[in-house]
Amino acid sequence: MITSVAASHAKGKFATDNIFGANAAAVQAVAKYGKDSVTNATIGALLDDNEVLVCLPTVEKVLRGLPIQEIINYAPIAGLPDFQESVIDLAFAEQKPEAYVKAIATSGGSGVIHHAIWNYTEIGDTVLTSDWFWGPYRVLCEDKLRKLDTFSMFDEQQRFNLNSFQTKLTSLLEKQNNALLIINTPAHNPTGYSISDDEWTQLLDICKESAKNPDKRVILLADIAYIDFAGEKQACRAFMRQFSNLPDNILVILGYSMSKSFTVYGQRCGAMIGVSSNKDIIKEFEDINQYTSRATWSNINRGAQRMLATIHKDQALLAQVDAERDQGYRTIQERAGIFTAEAKQANLKMLPFIAGYFLTIPAKNPEAVCNKLHDDLIFAVPLGKGVRIAVCAVPSRKIKGMAAKVAAAMAAVE
Ligand SMILES: Cc1ncc(COP(=O)(O)O)c(C=O)c1O
Repeated sequence: MITSVAASHAKGKFATDNIFGANAAAVQAVAKYGKDSVTNATIGALLDDNEVLVCLPTVEKVLRGLPIQEIINYAPIAGLPDFQESVIDLAFAEQKPEAYVKAIATSGGSGVIHHAIWNYTEIGDTVLTSDWFWGPYRVLCEDKLRKLDTFSMFDEQQRFNLNSFQTKLTSLLEKQNNALLIINTPAHNPTGYSISDDEWTQLLDICKESAKNPDKRVILLADIAYIDFAGEKQACRAFMRQFSNLPDNILVILGYSMSKSFTVYGQRCGAMIGVSSNKDIIKEFEDINQYTSRATWSNINRGAQRMLATIHKDQALLAQVDAERDQGYRTIQERAGIFTAEAKQANLKMLPFIAGYFLTIPAKNPEAVCNKLHDDLIFAVPLGKGVRIAVCAVPSRKIKGMAAKVAAAMAAVE
């Protein structure tokens, strides 16, 4: 009896989604005990205080107001020219580096990661990220026959661990010529950490040191999926200025996503923004990534692109979107603030949170902690080394008391 007809590279693959699993358990509990009794901290989307998915009102108005042809038609493979221009402005704001910069439309931030892996590493190569990371990074690497390795994100003092980063990068470049680094900041998923400007300087110095060997190339993918929930617009983008005048063999790619920034997760729209001192490298960036788009998904949702460009070109609309989003940011910060203060009181150790959709509690047995929390009808996501709490999805009234319950669950099982 045959049990598989898959090609050798596909055989045996299946996507385990522990986030989906944890959410399913919460949904079951809601059906049994009612919504008010259940705390569902598994959802990676902004929910309001009634636990309803937020769509920024101006985004809804502009999207619904587009002519139907602008919604249903194809877009150019690399994206609408208006979108390409606007997305660069929105990603950098006033912090645009001195460099050649080009954007191409992608299927969200995920599409950026996909293209970066495919086009900037060899089959069999290893990609480097921090040990706390968004799970799909591994799937994206492995599906494309690459491996993922990690550096320790924090040292014993909970500071960003540049030594570990340097050690891993150096040894990676002893084995391969291209090093693709995925750095998710600011408002990192799952910890909420943002790399400081000073840490960025040091991180780039380490990359420049490696790039002194002209045979080596460093491709630095800054995954900025949460940038619009990271704090003051210019301050949380100031690091981008440091991408000015880098050596030719360092290419920076920004992974921009409309999922969170415009609350249009399912519209699948984002942008891959290349930054280089070398015109030819940026021409190559446009050519090869456009080619991969054609070969992967063809073109990207035209309506979402038009919506972004329409908002960006109208000062009043843009100011409205910024204000509405800022309200969401402040809501999340308030929720995280309650948890953080109560965690301190309960002696519960958290990873350093600055901003973002999630915070994380390191744990020896995350699965057991999460299962124990089910007794209190609290649902969170067990990660490899910790428990992820989606503060983006839980109203403040349900956050109150949660840290103490997490501390108690940890004491009970660890
Ligand atoms: C760290 C990180 N990067 C990228 C993404 C990409 O999201 P999307 O493909 O929806 O833009 C996400 C979404 O959850 C994320 O958490």
